Amino acid sequence: MEEKINLLKQDLNKTFENFTNDKKEVKSLNELDLLESKYLGKKSLIAQTLKNINEFPHEVKPFVGKTVNEVRNKIENEIKNLRDELNLIEFDRKLREEKFDLTLPGRLLPLGSKNIINKVIEEIQEIFIGLGYEIAEGPEVETDYYNFEALNHPPDHPARSLHDTFFIDDKILLRTHTSPVQIRYMEKNKPPVYIIAPGKVYRKDYDVTHTPMFTQIEGLAVDNNINFGNLKWTLETLAHSFFGKDRKVRFRPHYFPFTEPSAEVDVSCNICGGKGCRVCSGTGWLEILGAGMVDPNLYKYVNYNPDEVTGFAFGMGIERMAMLKYGIDDLRLFFENDIRFLRQF
Ligand code: PHE
Repeated sequence: MEEKINLLKQDLNKTFENFTNDKKEVKSLNELDLLESKYLGKKSLIAQTLKNINEFPHEVKPFVGKTVNEVRNKIENEIKNLRDELNLIEFDRKLREEKFDLTLPGRLLPLGSKNIINKVIEEIQEIFIGLGYEIAEGPEVETDYYNFEALNHPPDHPARSLHDTFFIDDKILLRTHTSPVQIRYMEKNKPPVYIIAPGKVYRKDYDVTHTPMFTQIEGLAVDNNINFGNLKWTLETLAHSFFGKDRKVRFRPHYFPFTEPSAEVDVSCNICGGKGCRVCSGTGWLEILGAGMVDPNLYKYVNYNPDEVTGFAFGMGIERMAMLKYGIDDLRLFFENDIRFLRQF
């Protein structure tokens, strides 16, 4: 028996010696796992001896157990220490690999900028909100009824042909102006009405001063006792707040089917200072809006009583407004979205 125990002791010593040698080769956590299973795993001498400890006589079992466990604990300890060490090395390596230089300047993301059209819409909205107006909206795909008929263009009215309309079918079209919002709003709201309605409009037209899509702001005021003087004051206030007091404004008589009387309003051209240039076609003036007193005939479409209310309306081209204020000389610049152009505002 003694011999068997001596043999076991020798084997355990040898095992530990081998373990110590193998351990020196271990460079990674993976290799350490393999080492652990080789010396402590199910098939290892240590595990097998403990499992078959009943082969030893009863009185030596405690001694055998103690001897094997001593070696096992030593190995376990060394594995644990080495694991801690390797973990630290691994952590350190990760830190080194992932380290970044906090002193480097950040990479600048190219920023977009607000489109000049939207900026001008906001400026004009601010002016009218200050005067107590609300903002209204309507669809860009519109019916013939709202774009023409309820705006006093009966089916064969010649003014329809002035609009270069994009028709979708007989009854559906791309709105040629923001005036349909007047009807849509009055249909749903009782007077008094003070609204402005910005939005895109469409016409078959393309040159230096026309694009097939452009932007308008519509204005509508309907109340008791609204007169042409109120309209004139409102538009002068707009022109002076938007362009500045030095810009001149003039009213020319005009015709719109849905206003009576009607006017076209011009602002002096700031590109040439009024001398005449390509943009103002040599006149020194640029038309910015159409306006007039709401034709009482419209009220019957929206169930307003023409004996009780009067009103004025106006519609202006936003691109024109922007050109005049910021001295932009080609309408097409607005739609090309060249960031170098947009960044200037
Ligand atoms: N809708 C007209 C146009 O686009 C402008 C306008 C609006 C005129 C309101 C009078 C009143 O030309």
